[in-house]
Amino acid sequence: MLNMSENKVVHYLKDYQAPDFAVADINLTFSLEDAYATVLNRMTVVPRQADKPCVLDGSAELLQIVLNGKSLCPHEYAVADEKLIIHAVPDSEFVLEITTKLYPAQNKTLMGLYESGDNLYTQNEPEGFRKITYYFDRPDVMSQFTTTIIGDKQRYPVMLSNGNLIDSGELDNGRHWVCWRDPFAKPSYLFALVAGQLAVLEGSFTTRSGKEVALKFYTRPEDRAKAGFALESLKHAMQWDEDRFNLEYDLNIFMVVAVSDFNMGAMENKGLNIFNTKYVLASSDTATDADFEAIEGVIGHEYFHNWTGNRVTCRDWFQLSLKEGLTVFRDQEFSADRASRAVRRIHNVRVLRSMQFAEDAGPMAHPVRPASYEEMNNFYTLTVYEKGAEVVRMYHTLLGEAGFQKGMQLYFQRHDGQAVTCDDFRAAMADANGVNLEQFALWYSQAGTPQIKAHGEYDAGNRTFSLHLQQYIPPTPDMADKQPMVIPVKVGLLGRDGTSVVFRLADTDAVVEETVLVFNQAQQTFVFHDVAQEVVPSLLRGFSAPVRLDYPYSDADLMLLLAHDSDSFARWEAAQTLYRRAVAANVVALEANQPAPHHAELAEAITAALNADIDPAYKAVLLQVPTEAELWEDAQSINPELYVRARQALLQDLAASMEDTLTHWRTWADTQEQNSKHAAPQEYHPDLAGVRSLRNILLQWGVQASAQVLQTIASEYTQRATNMTHEFGMLSAINHLSDDKRDELLNQFAQRHAHDDLVMDKYFVLIGSSQRADTLQQVQAALQHPAFSLENPNKVRSLLGSFSRNIQHFHAADGSGYRFIAEHILRIDGFNPQVASRLVQAFNLYGRLEPQRKALMAEQLQRIQQHEGLSKDSREIVDKILR
Ligand code: PHE
Ligand code: ZN
Repeated sequence: MLNMSENKVVHYLKDYQAPDFAVADINLTFSLEDAYATVLNRMTVVPRQADKPCVLDGSAELLQIVLNGKSLCPHEYAVADEKLIIHAVPDSEFVLEITTKLYPAQNKTLMGLYESGDNLYTQNEPEGFRKITYYFDRPDVMSQFTTTIIGDKQRYPVMLSNGNLIDSGELDNGRHWVCWRDPFAKPSYLFALVAGQLAVLEGSFTTRSGKEVALKFYTRPEDRAKAGFALESLKHAMQWDEDRFNLEYDLNIFMVVAVSDFNMGAMENKGLNIFNTKYVLASSDTATDADFEAIEGVIGHEYFHNWTGNRVTCRDWFQLSLKEGLTVFRDQEFSADRASRAVRRIHNVRVLRSMQFAEDAGPMAHPVRPASYEEMNNFYTLTVYEKGAEVVRMYHTLLGEAGFQKGMQLYFQRHDGQAVTCDDFRAAMADANGVNLEQFALWYSQAGTPQIKAHGEYDAGNRTFSLHLQQYIPPTPDMADKQPMVIPVKVGLLGRDGTSVVFRLADTDAVVEETVLVFNQAQQTFVFHDVAQEVVPSLLRGFSAPVRLDYPYSDADLMLLLAHDSDSFARWEAAQTLYRRAVAANVVALEANQPAPHHAELAEAITAALNADIDPAYKAVLLQVPTEAELWEDAQSINPELYVRARQALLQDLAASMEDTLTHWRTWADTQEQNSKHAAPQEYHPDLAGVRSLRNILLQWGVQASAQVLQTIASEYTQRATNMTHEFGMLSAINHLSDDKRDELLNQFAQRHAHDDLVMDKYFVLIGSSQRADTLQQVQAALQHPAFSLENPNKVRSLLGSFSRNIQHFHAADGSGYRFIAEHILRIDGFNPQVASRLVQAFNLYGRLEPQRKALMAEQLQRIQQHEGLSKDSREIVDKILR
């Protein structure tokens, strides 16, 4: 423990220095042998200043260094702490040739060059390239890459890298070679190589300037047919980026390779995207509608990175949100333009509030642009991605679509081919629109979720409604005092009869129904004029800023908004607030050992909403009760189990009062699907996905209302199980029941899909997330399942990840959940620190737990902290939790 902080290296944004060397071009030659690979890296290096030591990043086995044709002796360089220092280099351009030796089959970190199945893949973002060769492994060193790959024809018939295939040939001994050249300068993190036996599904897209782009999806041969939906999604994404952002693809080929061992979702390597199989492969009998939607979103995301990430990249890793926040915003807009904008928005907000708000309220809280990090891999976070996307969305809200697009245009005009900062992006938005966005910079530098306290009053004599807003940004471990931020608050007013009430703001003549208030001081009052009647304000419409807003609505006000608000987010939010209040009342009762109260009025309001003329997907989201993390928000001394019980009690109470309505709409959903005008109703389609999502949540509620629903599911199971959305929906609905029928159906499911890796992930999710009393035993048994492997990140996330989010069992009062997860973190940390350190974050609630659980968690955190050889990834997290 004592040496804990000794060899800790913290990187600070304020220490940024421009690179001392540029690389004019880089030629890589990979020779793939049976048990290893050698890499010859020949680069033309250009000093940017005289007399600087040449320091390269790297950790691979070093075979040789040649400088301007002369082999260096060991005293001419030094290797330490993942750096290679060459003591004396010429003042002008020189050629450096470095040879390294790699062992991809032994590389279980899934960074650098690694083996999966019998094939080879790379993952270099953020700092994997240094595991391959020695280089200036930082995003602001951009160069043109030429890559030659030499390998056995049988074992590696397909050999891919970035850019265009420019040459290939045959060699003796059954070997062949290929040469790829990427005409666009790029940083090392965008380099990729793939080699092995892969089938290819091909398509093409003609860009608006008439260029034909070859689209190639590489998969295991048996998976090829399942890449069709992803291929179609790519075409939609390419079209959408032309239509909405005026951006056209720039190479003649776009490749996607699917790999089952992957630490993240997917990677935007230039022209050669590498994807987790989960985001490429789908058929309606193995993937749910949600999976199809995720594939469309991730395909879009990686494709959109070609401009926002690759053509314009990040100056340093602190700027990660420059590409990620912007690209998430773009993929969210793509999905919303494809279908169901309102429901998509609600889904994104739900993820943000249940996960990013928790991050903001915990030990890992950091701004969208972090000021420091120890291990960059720990900063691929919900804050950088999802809150980063909300920050981009706020520019859009403040500037409008046209203003935002003007900003994008100026951004590309200024920075195409460069590595830049979030400030450069903000400057482009400001300059293109002639507005001042100085204060907006605080969204990048201040962590924590801003909280708005609001109240308002109507003055009948003056016909005004005054809205008083007060903002507070809670302290976070990195920063105590914060400045008021600029918060766009979109507002409308509703009359007591539910109709929209028009108003006029001071200094204008315009009479409007809705406005975006620019709230940028600690407190501020906004006066709405010519307001004809008493009103209920509809606030933060569309979730116009990533904040918590509290207005003293009466329950009746919220029911009015739920029934009538024309803004679909605000309407949903009214229901969420009602649910939150009801659960809070249950928490109070349960804490006092009283039965939870009955919520008759809420049941009526939800029933009325369900019976209203709104689309089924929207009805489904109205039935989503806030997650536990949303319910405890930033509370202290939390007993997680209490929230599970309080939430559960609400569901049971509502479901019991609403049983007939639930059955009615479930039957309705069935007829919709049966009478569908779609030729193949079992296939993914947004309309049917909406109907099925309604049916599935009704099933979940139905199971709470009556034991009969389990019987219905059991009897219909086989007939419905031809569609994975139904199959998984049915299993999810009964997954918490102690009835033996649940185990029987789950076992059948596991047997039937034993050969399908991605479906088995779903089985492990069900096991890990069940509320049944025997869940820990079932999880332990599942570790022995032949389809399970600790080395496969999807498996770890499915079983252990879902268990670590299983509030009831992870936070078991006897500490068994904490102990179990800690044990497995330590097992995984030895070979895959990135996956292990994600799992450590399950303990983020530590500081806010009630004393007994806190003590139990402390034991496990200390055990992790004291573990010999703990990775710096996990060490950074555990130290931050315990500090
Ligand atoms: N850059 C990838 C994306 O968001 C994510 C990623 C990060 C993948 C690090 C692998 C490693 O699209
Ligand atoms: Zn991304």
